[in-house]
Amino acid sequence: MLDQISEKYHDESRQGEALMIESPLAAHNGRKLFIESYGCQMNFADSEVVASIMLEMGFQTTNDFNDADVIFINTCSIRENAEQRVRKRLTDFKAAKKNKPGMIVGVLGCMAERLKAKFLEEEKLVDVVVGPDAYRDLPKLIQSADEGTKSVNVLLSRDETYGDISPIRLNSNGVSGFISITRGCDNMCSFCVVPFTRGRERSRDAHSIVNEAKDLFDNGFREVVLLGQNVDSYHWKNEEETEQVNFAQLLAMVANVHPALRVRFSTSHPKDLTDEVLHTMAKTANICKNIHLPVQSGNSRVLELMNRTYTREWYINRIEAIRNIIPECAISTDIIAGFCSETEEEHQETISLMNLVRFEYAYMFTYSERPGTPAAKKLKDDVPEEIKSKRLAEIVQLQREHALGRMNNQVGKTNQVLIDGFSKKSENDFAGRTDQNLVVVFPVDKRFKKGDYVNVLIEKCTSATLLGKIVN
Ligand code: SAH
Ligand code: SF4
Ligand code: F3S
Repeated sequence: MLDQISEKYHDESRQGEALMIESPLAAHNGRKLFIESYGCQMNFADSEVVASIMLEMGFQTTNDFNDADVIFINTCSIRENAEQRVRKRLTDFKAAKKNKPGMIVGVLGCMAERLKAKFLEEEKLVDVVVGPDAYRDLPKLIQSADEGTKSVNVLLSRDETYGDISPIRLNSNGVSGFISITRGCDNMCSFCVVPFTRGRERSRDAHSIVNEAKDLFDNGFREVVLLGQNVDSYHWKNEEETEQVNFAQLLAMVANVHPALRVRFSTSHPKDLTDEVLHTMAKTANICKNIHLPVQSGNSRVLELMNRTYTREWYINRIEAIRNIIPECAISTDIIAGFCSETEEEHQETISLMNLVRFEYAYMFTYSERPGTPAAKKLKDDVPEEIKSKRLAEIVQLQREHALGRMNNQVGKTNQVLIDGFSKKSENDFAGRTDQNLVVVFPVDKRFKKGDYVNVLIEKCTSATLLGKIVN
């Protein structure tokens, strides 16, 4: 149970999801692609770029890997259990490949980048290994594999943003779409593998981002989520350097696409979240009042060891700025329990910080040492596993109480809700989300459909869902 919570990253229900597209973009080459994704939203967004490249080659998708000519698994390295999950999945593909000679198995994403050619030695069934910046090379890599040569491209790039490739969206609910705005990360938090697997930070052309948002809106989408490891450090300039756009300006530009398009973003870094961004959010109705601001620890010594470059006091100052400028803003976070040399007193400072902020939502993990990271090289992973788990359990329990308290506060209030579709349990109910990203379930009203905004009076709640009725 605890292990499951600790592995939860962003959207657990999507881990291992296969991407399905109805029709090929180019003439069908008679071959089928199965693609499955793990990890963060950025990896899912990348799979949509990969699908676009493969469909251009004439592939069709399938949701049955036994039926595929090419199997791609887009992988995550963030914690050890994320990698174990991928290894386990590869054993499922082994049997399929035996039954279908010529089948190609490709490993994409962060684990491909971390292990590089070693993957081919460790996992004999793998034919191609492709890092996150090398997807344009897929046609060539597939061709080599067809000719019987295993191949690897894990070159990281300083400028690849796939800005000109239209991601394939047909797997989504048609309401909410991801747009990657930066790639890579320059921060070097000591525990984190991302700078090694995703390379240097780069920002995508602001106009290509706005155009993608327009395109989504024209196709019926009503929400875009701007993605980056550290969106606040977004900074793009044109070649002549006559035009520069920072994150606050980009938010305003995307929000300007249409008042009925909700704009969300993730992830913000406490050291870079500016008051300019907060003021832009406050004065723009369609920028959702929701900030994901990972704290990792509530203790300044641990934060320094983590190389997060802020202190507890700085983090609290940012929370106060949010509360002052956008009083209704929901705040969520990420927390790591049991980082190297963390004492019980230091852990209690994380608990006291949680009590101070009362986060809407939190992703909570035990520390998992990743090979090659600064922490793995310089610090000792010396907090025993049972202590890590005990601290995590305490954090999870407290977070549950806070989340339930927050949900209870919504009862009796009326919220504007964007309808995502039917609820998972029944077609008699719609499911949607509030501006603050809370899930609301309410009876279907035939006057409305997916993608519409409705006002919902909240009547009851659980710790995860609000229940109500339309009061339009
Ligand atoms: N860019 C984001 C988060 C990226 S990874 C940020 O800067 O906050 C998502 C989360 O995974 C992190 O916030 C952290 O809480 C967790 N994480 C990253 N590396 C980890 C590790 N080695 N062990 C445990 N949790 C880790
Ligand atoms: Fe990792 Fe830190 Fe970059 Fe986030 S900001 S991706 S935690 S190095
Ligand atoms: Fe995982 Fe890579 Fe994302 S390591 S969390 S898939 S950037």
